[in-house]
This record gives sequence, C-alpha cells and structure tokens, in this order.
Amino acid sequence: MSDTLTLTHYIGGERVSADTPTESRNPSNTNDVVAKVPDGGEAEVNAAVDAARAAYPAWSDASPEVRSDVLDKAGTLIMERREQLGRLLSREEGKTLPEGIGEVVRAGRIFKYFAGEALRRHGQNLESVRPGVEIQTYRQSVGVFGLITPWNFPIAIPAWKTAPALAFGNTVVIKPAGPTPAIAAAMADIIYEAGAPKGVFNMIFGRGAMGQKLVDHPGVDGISFTGSQTVGANVANSAVKRQARVQLEMGGKNPLVILDDADLDRAVMIALDGSFFATGQRCTASSRIIVQEEIHDRFVQALAEKVAALRVGDALDSNTQMGPAVSEDQMETSYKYIDIAKNEGGRVVIGGGRLNLDNPGWYVQPTLIADTSKDMRINCEEVFGPVASTVRVKDYEEALAIANAGDFGLSAGIVTNSLKHARHFQRNIRAGMVMVNLPTAGVDYHVPFGGTKKSSYGAKEQGFAAVEFYTNIKTAYSWS
Ligand code: UN1
Repeated sequence: MSDTLTLTHYIGGERVSADTPTESRNPSNTNDVVAKVPDGGEAEVNAAVDAARAAYPAWSDASPEVRSDVLDKAGTLIMERREQLGRLLSREEGKTLPEGIGEVVRAGRIFKYFAGEALRRHGQNLESVRPGVEIQTYRQSVGVFGLITPWNFPIAIPAWKTAPALAFGNTVVIKPAGPTPAIAAAMADIIYEAGAPKGVFNMIFGRGAMGQKLVDHPGVDGISFTGSQTVGANVANSAVKRQARVQLEMGGKNPLVILDDADLDRAVMIALDGSFFATGQRCTASSRIIVQEEIHDRFVQALAEKVAALRVGDALDSNTQMGPAVSEDQMETSYKYIDIAKNEGGRVVIGGGRLNLDNPGWYVQPTLIADTSKDMRINCEEVFGPVASTVRVKDYEEALAIANAGDFGLSAGIVTNSLKHARHFQRNIRAGMVMVNLPTAGVDYHVPFGGTKKSSYGAKEQGFAAVEFYTNIKTAYSWS
C-alpha cells in the first residue's frame, strides 16, 4: 500500500486547496485510499472559467512557438515519468501496469504531436473567381473549452482534448472523472511545470452537478465530452441551447466478425485483446463477436481456453494479465448483463461467476457467452466490462447485416484472408473506425478518432481532424 495523496484544484495558475470530502480508492485493493479529492461546485466553475477567459487573449495571440514549447515540454516530462505515472494510473484505475505505462506514453506522445500541430499550416490560399481578388482562410482559436473526461483512459483522454485545445490557442477548464482524479492531477502538475501561463489550463474536481455548471457556463465556448450516452445527450442539449460548440464521444457495441477463412490463432488473439484487455473497459472493446458457422465451434473453444487462462489480479502485480473493474458499480454492471444474457438464452462458456481474491477488490471473471442473437440486450447495450458474446452466422452477408445493427457505430473489425470481404467490409460497415485483422480497440494517437450513429456527435477528435473542433475558419478576401 502507498501514500494517500491530497489533491487540489488548479485554478488561475494556483493550486487551490479545498475540503476534501471525496476520495479515490484502489480498485485492486479497496483498503488503499489513493487520493483525497476536493468536491467542487459552482464557485470553482466560475473561478476557473474567469481565469481561463482572462488568460485567453494573450495565449491566443502568442507565437505558436510559445504554445508548441509548453506542449513539447509537457510531453517530455510525461514520458520521462512513465514508470511512476503508470504505477499511479494502474493503482487508481485498475488496468495492468504495462497497460498503465503504455497509456502514459500515449499521453506524452499526444502532447508532442500537438506541439507540432501548433506550428503547422492550417490555413489556405485560394484564387478568387474575381480576377485580382485573393482569398485566404485562417484557423483561429475559439476561446475557452470545457473538457469532461472519463475514468477509463484517465490521462490519455485528458491529453487528447487538452493538447489540441491549447495548441490552437484556446484555454481550458477540465473536469476529470470521479474515480481517477490523482492521475489527472499529475497531468495538471506537469502542464504547470512545463510553463503554461496562469489561467491557460485549469482543472477542477467535482461531481456530475459541477460538470453541468461547466456545460451551462456562458463563458465556455465549447464542450468536449467523453462518457456515457445518457450524460452525452444532456451535455449536447445544454450546449446547443446556448449555441456552444459540442463534441461527444459515447461508447460503442463494437462488432468483430470472424470469417471461416480466418487464421484461427490470429482471430483468437484479436478477440482476446479486443474484448478483455484493459478489463474490457474501452469504448472500442470488441463486445459482439460474430462468427461464421464453419469456424464457430473451433473459435469459441480456443477463445474460451485463452479466457480461462487469463490471470486476473492486482493491477500492480507483474503476474496479472487482467486487472479489476474500476468500481463496484462497474463490477455489478458486468454481473447484471451476464444474468440478463443467461435469462435471454445465452450460454456461458467460461466465467460468469463472482470472483473473490485475497485482496478486497472489484474483480470480475472474464466471461464469454455463446449462442446469443442480434436483438438480445447483451448485443445492444454497452457493458463496459470483460464480457463478450458470440453470434453464429451462416455467411459474410449475414455477418455484415448484424454488425451494422444497433445504435452504436464506433469501431468494427473483421478477421479474414479474403481481400474481397475485407474491402467490402471497410466500405460498408457503419462505424467511424474499421480494423482488418486487428483488434477493434487500441488506436493510434496521431489519426482521427470517433464514430458514427449514436457513438459520437460533432467533429472528430485527434490527428489532423482535431483542428476542426478547436478552431474557427475565417475567410479573408482582399484586393489591391
Ligand atoms: C483505444 O481503443 O485505444 O473511452 C482508445 C474509450 C475511447 C478510447 C479508446 N475513447 O475507450
């Protein structure tokens, strides 16, 4: 067990102490209090937005080199401290230490990528249709962004919203998720240490009601939110009412299609990674595995053997291959959906029971449920845990139709050696990201990220797409 950290808000360049009535606990061992966390409200939102507004003109007018240097330094510091930060992340969120360190490195790389984006050319010169007239487009900063981030990528997602916002000259107020404040605060410390001017970056801790105040604040020009569909819908309603720009990323029910001609071992590893790594707590997780009939029984059996062999345990134990759920709520959600699937006629091939280890933690048995069908709740609603279901289909066409069913459209995958089917799937799957012979989860940090249907709303995040959300285009005409 390690020390308990006492966190503060970060407002206007100061660490602002507060009563600390809430706490975050280690999901691998709930006796371990990771951090005592301030519980902010309207006063903190107002102070943070005021600070961000005051800092905005100078930051947006500064040379892009100034912004680039801050982001580059933050990226360097994050990467230098990967071990220590990865340990804190795994202790607080429950993903394994290699997963925690991997995520920290990703966050560092994101800062470095946007250090470059700050300097790149985003405007254009165009010929006018009127001779002698010139047209230029500028990408100009928007103002203050409110960022609301989830617990499952507790440093990477704060990084991929903060870094582009700052790179393009905006200022930020971020509210990180309740279960994972300490790793978010570690990122805030680094941004301060990297030299962000006062008020450019603000982080406040609080519950959903505080998030709502941030969304409703008239001084916030845009909101980027990653989280559940229900909360996302409210965020969008509130933002649109006052014409703030809004971007939502809200999960998936990502299909993974396994065709008869797939390489069996590869298909099994892809499914194992996509469904169970990071305890299945990824919005890109493969949760519906759609398997063609000839390979079906061999695939289900081989996957079940791998799932049975997964070592579930304390996230910081080097033997552990899968950590706990982040919280009791998430653990109970997994068990609830396992029961729902059983009642609907699904067959539990492996897992399904409660898991009591020596440590008091929120452990879930990785679970595979076969013989499910497209309309069962297990195949329509996001579980966000280590629970995968399989659906048997007769051919590619049926697989595609099922993969395209439902409300979500974030990521989708196909495992096949058929170029024809792979190409057809790439073009015809209704999802924002499509993977051929790769897991649905585990994306690169320098390319666009986001979904279709009810998975996402607004401009895409990351890579060259990030400039869309975090800037306004101005079209300038001139004649001389
Ligand atoms: C990934 O699959 O590498 O919340 C990233 C999530 C996503 C990130 C997934 N926004 O799980």
